[in-house]
Amino acid sequence: MKSLSVPAPAKINLFLEVLGKRPDGYHELETVMQETSLADTVELEESDSGIELTCTEPEIPCDERNLAWKAARVFQEESGIKRGVKLHLLKKIPTAAGLGGGSSDAAAVLKGLNTLWGAGLADEVLMAMASRIGSDVPFFIKGCTALCKGRGEIVQPIETRQRLFYVILYPEIRVATTSIYNSLKIDLTKGLKDANFFVKAFLSGDPDSFGKLLFNRLEGVTLGLYPELRKTKALLESYSPCGVLLSGSGSAIYALCNKRREAERIREELTRQGFKKTYVVTNLESLEPA
Ligand code: C5P
Repeated sequence: MKSLSVPAPAKINLFLEVLGKRPDGYHELETVMQETSLADTVELEESDSGIELTCTEPEIPCDERNLAWKAARVFQEESGIKRGVKLHLLKKIPTAAGLGGGSSDAAAVLKGLNTLWGAGLADEVLMAMASRIGSDVPFFIKGCTALCKGRGEIVQPIETRQRLFYVILYPEIRVATTSIYNSLKIDLTKGLKDANFFVKAFLSGDPDSFGKLLFNRLEGVTLGLYPELRKTKALLESYSPCGVLLSGSGSAIYALCNKRREAERIREELTRQGFKKTYVVTNLESLEPA
C-alpha cells in the first residue's frame, strides 16, 4: 500500500480588515497570511474503500466534523476517484487558536490525495475544492505569504524572500471563530485600514517599520470577550518586539522579532511567567539560512 506524509503549517495573520457583512452571512475580508514553521504532519495511506481518520489529540473529533475528513470526501466527490484512504494527523498546532491548524490539515489532505491517487489536478482545481471546506483552506494550497480577499478564498501570493522570526503564544483559551464574527460591530464611519498600504510596507522589508502596522480588526472583539488576553498582549509588548498581534480570531498572540535570538529571549521570559505553549517560528519562503 502506498503512503505519504505532508506537512501542514500554521498561519498567522499579519493584517486583517473586515470590509463588511455579505448577504451569505460571511464577512468580506482583506487579510495577509503567512505560513510558519510550526506544523502538523498529515499521513495518508491508500486503502480499499472509505475514509478513516486518527489523530494524536484525543479531544479532536475524527469524523465528518474534522476538516481533514471533509477534505477527503470533497476530493473523492470532485475528482470522481472513489478509492479509500487512512489519514493520521500528528498535531503540533494548537486548536481553536487562530492559527489555521484544521484548515491547513484539510489543504494537506487535498495535496496529498492529489499525489497519492495520481490525479494530477492543478492548484487552481484544489483551491476550488478547498473553498468548499472552509474560508482559510484555499490559502494553504499555495501557502507561503498571500493577500486573501473575499471570504478569504481569493488568494494573491506575495513574493518575499525575507526571513522573519516570531514568538507565538497560545494562552490555552479556545476561541470559536463564529462567536467573534457574530460579536463584531461593523462601524463604517471608522476608517478602514488599507491592505495595500500594509503590503507595501511589508515588502519594504524592515520589521521595525511594518511591525507598527500589524493590524487585526477582530482583535478588539476577542480582547473584549477575553480580558485576560489584554494582559497577555501587554506582557508581550513590554519586551519591545517589532510588533504584537492576535492571530485571526485568536486566542494565539504573536510577537514579530528582528532576530531569532530576540524571539528566543522573549520565549524564555514567557516560560518564566508560566506560559507553557510558546513557539519560536520562522516563515517558510526565505532563501537565507535560519
Ligand atoms: O469558512 P469557515 O467555516 O472556516 O468560517 C468559520 C466561521 O467564521 C463562519 O461560520 C463565519 O461565522 C465566520 N467567517 C466569516 N467571514 C469570513 C470567514 C469566516 O464570517 N470571511
